[in-house]
Amino acid sequence: MLAALSSIALSRKGIQASPSAGQQSAKVRAVPLRIPPASSIPSGPVGELVRLGKNIITDTPKYAAAYTGNSMKCSDCHIGGGTMAFASPLAGVTTLFPWYSPRAKRVITIQERLNECFVRSENGKPLPDSSRDMIAMIAYMNWLSRGIPMGSTVVGRGLLHLRAPSHVDPKAGKRIYAKKCSMCHQPNGQGISGVSPPLWGPHSVNDGAGMAKVPKMAAFVKANMPPTNPGSLTVQEAFDVAAYVDSQPRPHYNKVYDNY
Ligand code: HEC
Ligand code: HEC
Repeated sequence: MLAALSSIALSRKGIQASPSAGQQSAKVRAVPLRIPPASSIPSGPVGELVRLGKNIITDTPKYAAAYTGNSMKCSDCHIGGGTMAFASPLAGVTTLFPWYSPRAKRVITIQERLNECFVRSENGKPLPDSSRDMIAMIAYMNWLSRGIPMGSTVVGRGLLHLRAPSHVDPKAGKRIYAKKCSMCHQPNGQGISGVSPPLWGPHSVNDGAGMAKVPKMAAFVKANMPPTNPGSLTVQEAFDVAAYVDSQPRPHYNKVYDNY
């Protein structure tokens, strides 16, 4: 049933999805990803929080400047403000937390999970647990999750589950990059401000981020890049190009935040 839903969700892209995508455990029930219309954001103070959370997630350097250390928006990876399957959607996440984290080797809260992306993907600083900005992001994620039962998630949580090829070739990846990526992310990997995000260099994610690891980047790229023709790369090409991008310099993860 799950496998069927996953392949329906991705048939337009010609991708065979695994039901165990991302961190999804076989025991977690998954429902189809349905994004509520913006008109259903409630009026009043809760609606204000939801809108603030959406702004932080879609324009992080502007709305969470004090905690952001690069030019990355959450929605550069959580595409469409967390509304896309296999681009780590942000619906059906708060329904699962607190959650056992294989990275931390303990149960973590949703605040800790959000801060993991702040100290790694945003190369920034953790937000206080009960700050207005933190509660706003949670309010937005709860709004995205309307109708999803507690303990359940969405089909397409996390990233595609790919089997790594036996050999990965960053030199072949360099050629793929020049042909299929550099027009947007630029030959020097710095992207185009306001159009496409950097893939390496001082304004990119640090080396502690999931996106800086070849398997996760390959899984993201396979399902989502290039945006004009997602799913067009083979699994081998996705790994090769991820290995090339991964071989480029980027900021170092600040071990002061090792509890995240
Ligand atoms: C450079 C890419 C990138 C950026 C920027 C980024 N993230 Fe993530 N995020 C990821 C990846 C990769 C994962 C792990 C997906 C997986 O393996 O299932 C993740 C996971 C998460 C999760 C857990 C999802 C789940 O299903 O358990 C949350 C919540 C999250 N990010 C929130 C944020 C927020 C909020 C921001 C902005 C402050 C942000 N992320 C910025 C790449 C990014
Ligand atoms: C048409 C322009 C375009 C092309 C071509 C393109 N990208 Fe992207 N890429 C984007 C945009 C825009 C985003 C931000 C997410 C979104 O809005 O779709 C993005 C996001 C990303 C991210 C996650 C964010 C980050 O900075 O880490 C990665 C990784 C990535 N692209 C890799 C690639 C690779 C590899 C290729 C070539 C196979 C590629 N892209 C081709 C425009 C492009």
